Amino acid sequence: MPSAGAKIVGVGHYAPPRIVTNHDLEAWLDTSDDWITTRTGMKRRHWASEEEGTSDLAAAAASAALTHAGLQPHDIDCFIVATVTPDYSFPATACLVASRLGVSERPAFDLAIACSGFIYGLTVASGLIRSGVYRRIMLIGAETLSKILDKGDRSTAILFGDGAGAVILERSDRDSFLASDLGADGSRPELLYAHGSGFRKPIDHAALDDKVHLIHMQGPETFRLAVTRMVESTDTVLASAHLSKSDVTFLIPHQANRRIIDATARYLELPEEKVIVNIAEYGNTSAASIPLALSETVRAGRLKPDDLVIFVAFGGGLSWGAVAWRWSA
Ligand code: ACO
Repeated sequence: MPSAGAKIVGVGHYAPPRIVTNHDLEAWLDTSDDWITTRTGMKRRHWASEEEGTSDLAAAAASAALTHAGLQPHDIDCFIVATVTPDYSFPATACLVASRLGVSERPAFDLAIACSGFIYGLTVASGLIRSGVYRRIMLIGAETLSKILDKGDRSTAILFGDGAGAVILERSDRDSFLASDLGADGSRPELLYAHGSGFRKPIDHAALDDKVHLIHMQGPETFRLAVTRMVESTDTVLASAHLSKSDVTFLIPHQANRRIIDATARYLELPEEKVIVNIAEYGNTSAASIPLALSETVRAGRLKPDDLVIFVAFGGGLSWGAVAWRWSA
């Protein structure tokens, strides 16, 4: 039995001011607003400036969450940043964010599991709180995917955007965490990868010419797996929590493609009004997409106490997962 429960007491989000519309992309890619809208549901995405890094976006979202919760940075016991676009290989982006907020000597670490980052992070952070290790944790999903995009590749350049979403988890008598299902399969890395600053084969001129540091994706196969895994994970957490599809108030899915979200909702028999979608504004922001959508939903006053929220994601790794969460005021 857990010694305590966990609940979310603050949310915040941030996206860089530079907006890139589908029409902007038409200027240098053989694509069209119509193709992008129909095939993905995306209309715009936010891209960071050259000066902005993931830690800047993460710190802005974290500040917004602190204000929302009425807390100060030193009230946080531990900082976690889910990202695959860290400022550096090391130090961890979470260390930079804590420092940016004026906090030192608190634990801080990154979690790199691509689009499933928030689901893994929420599971880890809830576990640390429920087991009594920490009282408050800042969990941030933040990405600057525009920095690892091959801007000349129309199959990926149109899909990804930058942003950050943050939640503050706090120990509570009432437990919002109902169930988690996490999965990973590293047997097919070729489906979705960016070698980035990995050191198996350190970056040299030949690697740069091959653009291995940028995002590569086999879209259609990833699409199929995303729907299957997100449906299975949602079913699993509902069963673990002894709940049914009709109990779900909101599904907050990773925003990879409107058609993936629609297909997932269709298999789960969830009507449109129960599915949170903001992909038209942000595109795919990987680990940032779920906390960003959650923050918007909370700030719009759409979540009420006792609402059942399912967070679900699929992405690089391959990785996937879902969390069932009972919203608490
Ligand atoms: N504009 C116009 N045409 C395009 C574009 C574009 N931007 N991109 C591809 N096309 C063309 C292709 O060349 C192809 O043309 P062809 O038939 O002449 O060969 C045609 O459109 C169809 O291409 P598909 O790749 O089959 O298109 P699809 O409908 O599958 O859409 C997409 C592609 C949007 C990438 C989709 O497959 C997808 O969203 N996949 C999943 C993405 C995802 O979930 N990723 C996981 C999370 S990301 C992470 O973890 C970091």
